Amino acid sequence: MENQTESNYIKPIAIVVRGLVKHFGGVYAVDGLSITIEKGKVTGIVGPNGSGKTTLINALSGILPIDDGKVSFDGVWLSKVKSYEVSSYGITRTFQDVRLFNQMLVLDNILIVLTERNVFGSLFEKHSDFHLKRAEEILRRVNLWEKRHELAKNLSYGQRKLLEIARALAMNAEIYLFDEPFAGIFREMAKIIAAIVNELRVQGKTVILIEHDMNLIRELCDHVFVLDSGKLLAEGKPEEVLKKKEVVEAYLGE
Ligand SMILES: Nc1ncnc2c1ncn2[C@@H]1O[C@H](COP(=O)(O)OP(=O)(O)O)[C@@H](O)[C@H]1O
Ligand SMILES: [Mg+2]
Repeated sequence: MENQTESNYIKPIAIVVRGLVKHFGGVYAVDGLSITIEKGKVTGIVGPNGSGKTTLINALSGILPIDDGKVSFDGVWLSKVKSYEVSSYGITRTFQDVRLFNQMLVLDNILIVLTERNVFGSLFEKHSDFHLKRAEEILRRVNLWEKRHELAKNLSYGQRKLLEIARALAMNAEIYLFDEPFAGIFREMAKIIAAIVNELRVQGKTVILIEHDMNLIRELCDHVFVLDSGKLLAEGKPEEVLKKKEVVEAYLGE
């Protein structure tokens, strides 16, 4: 058999971004960005503060309308991404500033995701044994099962970040957009999140990870995109990209 190199294979694609523009008045947060994100891989998005990372994720998840350009999910091209449609493309996300149902119990934060499409279940607050079992499994995974009867607002910052990740897992999505999940949390919690990212990859899921810690990027990511002022500065394998002169300079200039 002929010896095929990696480049001979057609790589499965999760998301294609072409000429994406998002501006706030005169500030071009994302400025004509074109990137292709491979399916089943962990892709890092790095760049100095204000380089457009969160805006990119907001545009991809339909939180912000796109000003120009287009996006494709699994081969479907869209010039408008609507947040209520995004989950039907198998996409879920977490927020840099953690968003939960604060006045709900930790357990209910998960159950409401698991039963979202089961109208009668949510109406009568009856959860099947299956949903409860799955919620337990997910909460144990993030070490929050013991906290299940607490209100989400009473958790520590790190626990809140873990609960948000648990909610994303409950979505059972194909594509996970994580905006700085490791920022400001203890090492033990970071280890759990790193393990979850690796597990998602093993399951063939696509993970997009915004992260400032370059050691984590090297450890977890197959590919990395470096943004600077809303534009693509560099891309490739982390170990090669992160030592490029222009990348080092972009960070030094911060
Ligand atoms: N809602 C908004 N209104 C006005 N300007 C914004 C808004 N969101 C982001 N920006 C601006 O867009 C640029 C990119 O921000 P952001 O995407 O949050 O960067 P990053 O996540 O890389 O730190 C910054 O200059 C920021 O001030
Ligand atoms: Mg950000």
